Amino acid sequence: MMLDKEFVISEIDPRIYGSFIEQLGRAVYGGIYEPNHPTADENGFRQDVIDLVKQLQVPIIRYPGGNMVSAYNWEDGIGPKEERPHRLELAWRVTETNQVGTNEFMDWSKAVGSEAMMAVNLGTRGIDAARSLLEYCNHPGGTYWSELRKQHGYEQPHKIKTWCLGNEMDGPWQIGQKTAYEYGRLAAETGKAMRQVDPTIELVSCGSSGSGMPTFPEWEATTLEHTYEFADYISLHQYYGNRDDDTANYLANSLDMDNFINTVIATCDYMKAKKRSKKTINLSFDEWNVWFHSNDQDNKLEPWAIAPPQLEDIYTFEDAILVGSMLNTLLKHSDRVKIACMAQLVNVIAPIMTETGGGIWKQSIFYPYYYTSVYGRGVALNPIIISPKYDSKDYTDVPYLDSSVVYNEENDELVIFAVNRHLQNRLKVDVDIRSFDGFEIVEHVVLENEDAKAVNTLRNEQVKPHSQGLSFIEDDKLVGVLPKMSWNMIRLQ
Ligand code: AHR
Repeated sequence: MMLDKEFVISEIDPRIYGSFIEQLGRAVYGGIYEPNHPTADENGFRQDVIDLVKQLQVPIIRYPGGNMVSAYNWEDGIGPKEERPHRLELAWRVTETNQVGTNEFMDWSKAVGSEAMMAVNLGTRGIDAARSLLEYCNHPGGTYWSELRKQHGYEQPHKIKTWCLGNEMDGPWQIGQKTAYEYGRLAAETGKAMRQVDPTIELVSCGSSGSGMPTFPEWEATTLEHTYEFADYISLHQYYGNRDDDTANYLANSLDMDNFINTVIATCDYMKAKKRSKKTINLSFDEWNVWFHSNDQDNKLEPWAIAPPQLEDIYTFEDAILVGSMLNTLLKHSDRVKIACMAQLVNVIAPIMTETGGGIWKQSIFYPYYYTSVYGRGVALNPIIISPKYDSKDYTDVPYLDSSVVYNEENDELVIFAVNRHLQNRLKVDVDIRSFDGFEIVEHVVLENEDAKAVNTLRNEQVKPHSQGLSFIEDDKLVGVLPKMSWNMIRLQ
């Protein structure tokens, strides 16, 4: 592998380490909000959850959905809590009590030090509800909705900058699913009206719900035809699962993610050329993760419960390795991917799990997310990698070595994130670090495990990193030894 300070991909937008809280399952109720919990603060938020989220240094958090937003009346979640209606929540077939809504979420995001990314309902609603919500949140005062916000105790506007124009509107499961033309028109007109309310906002146009959608990438081309003028970003969503228990193939899924990103970039740029536009649309990968462990369980749920456990995937060691590679992929595309949200953050397909009324623990996937978010700040470098390769069921020429590299000028620090996809053999990596003369290894953190299916629970943390990684400097070269099937971070200064 060869690195050079001059081989720069881009300045990394910290928002690629974003996440997502949906009003779903126990993400909110029993997750971030539990007024009777021993650690609850004066607003009913669990302090133990706040502390762990803060550790992750999450710069932006998407809310309130997800599928849930497509039939959500945001007005249900404001004002005195005792007057808020209970509603049938159609996306996940539960009862929504609305005890947490926009203002509570804004309080919580402040407490964890994150910016909010708000989604508007373009399933059952449209321009009017979106512009009212924006006025309620961002307008300083003197109008119906902004004065109502003040009456509710929020004198200052929330100043929410980033807004999603709906969620996964291409999906047959979505309440109010639209054709690309229908969505493009509605999103464009909604965006236009929202910009009249607040010209400083940024807008995300809905892309495909996954690279496997039959309408991908025609969806992007048709919708952008209408939304190009108003949108700043187009969204991508993608989840993977190891349903066939084929680990070599599973770990190669970041190649699909890479291809997905490349195709969306190409489609955006095609539209840029077609419209003779000076503007470049960037990417918001605002849902990504592993999601499959909980599918069978969720299919058996009785409808209309209040905050039942849903999408509670318990993540294995191998899931953490794929998550590490997905983070590498985002970093390698940091010139165009400016926002990304690990979906989700607490209890629902999440790095952080809680017991309602009880403790808290870190899932296996917490660790690559934590280290990449904390140390992956600065500029992304383009490593020239020569690696042995393998073929799997769905992929050919999969490099065993998957790596991304960050240079942090402020700390004069070089950080190498590296996955060894080989299931049996360690990988010795020679890194030419010629432009980092005199740099020494600060630490080599390794996530490894003999058992690909090892998991963490409240009382038993089987998957956790150690700092005894084997790497050394030899003849101006960095030599890193990556154990079989492992995620690694080598930090140099
Ligand atoms: O994150 C879980 C769900 O996945 C979201 O609600 C939806 O947008 C996607 O299908």
